[in-house]
Amino acid sequence: MAGFADPDHLIMSVRSAAARAGANIALVKYWGKRDPALNLPAAGSISITLDALQTQTRLEPDPGLAGDLLQVNGQDLPSTRVSQVLDLMRALAGGGPHFRVSSRNNFPTGAGLASSASAFAALVVAADQALGLALSATRLSALARRGSGSAARSLFGGFVEMHPGQAESGDDAVATALAGSEHWPLAVVVAVTDPGPKAVSSTEGMQRTMQTSPYYPAWVASVEQDLSEARAAILGRDFQRLADVAEHSALKMHASALAARPGLLYWNAATLLCMERIRTMRAAGTAVFFTIDAGPQLKAVCLPDDAAAVAAALKAIDGVGQVIVSSLGAGAEVLA
Ligand code: DP6
Repeated sequence: MAGFADPDHLIMSVRSAAARAGANIALVKYWGKRDPALNLPAAGSISITLDALQTQTRLEPDPGLAGDLLQVNGQDLPSTRVSQVLDLMRALAGGGPHFRVSSRNNFPTGAGLASSASAFAALVVAADQALGLALSATRLSALARRGSGSAARSLFGGFVEMHPGQAESGDDAVATALAGSEHWPLAVVVAVTDPGPKAVSSTEGMQRTMQTSPYYPAWVASVEQDLSEARAAILGRDFQRLADVAEHSALKMHASALAARPGLLYWNAATLLCMERIRTMRAAGTAVFFTIDAGPQLKAVCLPDDAAAVAAALKAIDGVGQVIVSSLGAGAEVLA
């Protein structure tokens, strides 16, 4: 019988597959882990999925390979984290060949623009298809989390909540959809102040904050309150309330990182000018707020009608290069 124990059958039934996923931007930040090995977050987070910042990933099975090969934007890269996730998925399939993985981002990679989030979400969706697993989005979210915590959220579109879970296995540390993009079509304006790769990765920055920042316990203890405020603001489409809690969460995350030893300073001069500009615009009546991740880019969230004005204001700032305007997008999906 040609069952799962037959390696030839296994390899023949594995096919090429491709998937796409959008980056996501957290409005209530994830910063710290309860279990680094399983990559379980210490607290929940809430994000929006973007449609303009995309990763497309193609998997080609190749039984002749001794290990998975990874290319990102045409450049060969070490495949360690990608292989770890693919190993988990091959195990679920009862085995499977190595893959040539080629991934393309249409935005600067590794510069605090959440490229790992869209990359691992696209990877697990493509691998699910290639291996014929047909896993639920929830299970794929847990697998994407093993690659990068924020990737668990890019499985879903619109407004998304990541749950820290309680199980030791981490099976309940998954994201769920909070509301679709049609619920509240916000716009995001990304001001790129430095297109180069970031100096300290999120993983390393979180670890240093957990180990050395006296503010880390206060940060973790306060996330639950921010989550309930953000949830209520999103469900009630209350922009002022969302602006207030999202800026609070971002600044508090950075405050905890700044207090690490040595301190983590992800901003540059242009980031600060952007923050000031957004606050001035808000004081003058534009519904807009900012958020910043583990890099110097600033992301402004506003209503679609104000996106052009916000983009023009940020573009005029000394040190701002590319400005990307995005609406909210769909969750990760298979490409034909
Ligand atoms: C600041 O998901 O990149 O963007 O799980 O270690 O891969 P790892 O971290 P990652 O961290 C994202 C941190 C953040 C905030 C957020 O997206 O919630």
